[in-house]
Amino acid sequence: MVSRGRTFDTVVVANRLPVDREVDAQGQTHWRTSPGGLVTAMDSVMRHRGGAWVGWVGDTGEAPEPFEGDSGMHLYPVALGAAEVEEFYEGFSNATLWPIYHDVIVPPTFHRRWWATYEAVNRRFAEVTAGVAAEGATVWVHDYQLQLVPALLRDLRPDLRIGWFDHIPFPPVELFGQLPWREELLRGLLGADFLGFQRTTDAGNFIRACRQLLGTTSKGEVIRWEGADDDLLGAAPRTVRAAAVPISIDAADLEQLAKTPAVQQRAAEIRASLGDPETVLLGVDRLDYTKGIRHRLRAVAELLDDGEIAPPQVTLVQVATPSRERVAAYQELRHQIDGMVGRINGDYSGIGHAAVHYLHQSYPREEMAALFQAADVMLVTPLRDGMNLVAKEYVACRHDLGGALVLSEFTGAAHELRQAYLCNPHDIVGLKRRILLAMRDDPEQKRRRMQAMRRRVFSHDVEAWARRYLDALAMAPERPQRRSGD
Ligand code: ADP
Ligand code: F6P
Repeated sequence: MVSRGRTFDTVVVANRLPVDREVDAQGQTHWRTSPGGLVTAMDSVMRHRGGAWVGWVGDTGEAPEPFEGDSGMHLYPVALGAAEVEEFYEGFSNATLWPIYHDVIVPPTFHRRWWATYEAVNRRFAEVTAGVAAEGATVWVHDYQLQLVPALLRDLRPDLRIGWFDHIPFPPVELFGQLPWREELLRGLLGADFLGFQRTTDAGNFIRACRQLLGTTSKGEVIRWEGADDDLLGAAPRTVRAAAVPISIDAADLEQLAKTPAVQQRAAEIRASLGDPETVLLGVDRLDYTKGIRHRLRAVAELLDDGEIAPPQVTLVQVATPSRERVAAYQELRHQIDGMVGRINGDYSGIGHAAVHYLHQSYPREEMAALFQAADVMLVTPLRDGMNLVAKEYVACRHDLGGALVLSEFTGAAHELRQAYLCNPHDIVGLKRRILLAMRDDPEQKRRRMQAMRRRVFSHDVEAWARRYLDALAMAPERPQRRSGD
């Protein structure tokens, strides 16, 4: 257990800290907001609450001393060496678990060495956390990279209240069961008191996996695990609750940003630099094969080919954030997307009028808000996505009730934003129809849809999510034990 003196009543544990370290050519260190929905959501939630955040700084250098982040949280860096980044992060987390948890869109890779490193890194996270959590503290562990932390941490600190939240889907047992380490992963998670998921289906998949693979019993959302002879961690017997608590965004904060004159002016500038089109289509995603970017480009290419849309009247802006760039499937995807965009632009752009504006970059929040304001139709077409916060961000920014959202049925967000133009991205003909409908629908109809979606996003914002989650964790079925030796 690593103890650095100070301890906290609330500890967040996630693979990444809210900031990534970047060292420039002059050797100067800069801190940048880390990518992804987890950080967007948790950063705003923890801003009001304070506490410690245990996570990785995103490179292979030595871990800096703990420091205070912009939000007032105390950040406790965990170091990962080059081999650990390759085997734990790029390997087991993102080439084994990620594809299994996202419908095996690409084939998963299984390596015993990756698993050993996953275990070792999870143990390190648990040890650092055990050193910073105060007696009886609440520890909130996040996501698929850290599924062994709940049990490892409970073994070290039975006095803690431990929760885990799954930001991505939890797969059906037919897919989860492919994992050679399926039982170890389930036992790792059962070290928590409360397990939160994006959808009821995800919680149900987890409960079924426990029943079929571990022989647990369950009543509704409550699982009883009696343990096994080889249960070295001693987490069992335990009673654990698993339920859906869908994540959200700080809608009011984003709306306020979108209303500022600077953002509104920037939105107008963006439209002007695109040549003041009648319709701006927008996609914003990490460059990930789960996001359905290829399907979206295919639909747009066919619409151009059909003569239904053409630049400069209609143009697509596709923002694709660099992501996991050393993982083979992501390199392959980048190659494919670069090629598709090149072909579409070669065939359909004119001088000064691109059919697709493709931006492989990260932007500040203000620029994202301006892009959302500038877009007439937002295309969110993942093949599978735990939630998709971009869809909610678009809705929050449209205080003018303008715009239209085309949203894949295979996102968590589609379970809440029922008034979106829902689509099946595998059905290219259907997707094309939905895009055209979103462009051409009666404006009053569009306003009504946007209003209904906004009601949902504002009444179920990230603060409501955090309260629901933390209340469920506090009321979890088991009482924590006192610290051994007390
Ligand atoms: P994921 O967690 O899989 O990346 P989400 O849609 O849930 O997907 O969250 C993505 C988050 O990252 C959103 O808050 C979105 O605004 C932000 N984001 C996406 N692309 C960019 C970008 N190019 N620059 C800055 N922020 C981005
Ligand atoms: O939502 C899944 C997730 O892995 C989150 O942990 C994170 O928000 C996002 O994707 C970014 O991924 P990475 O940390 O691999 O860049």
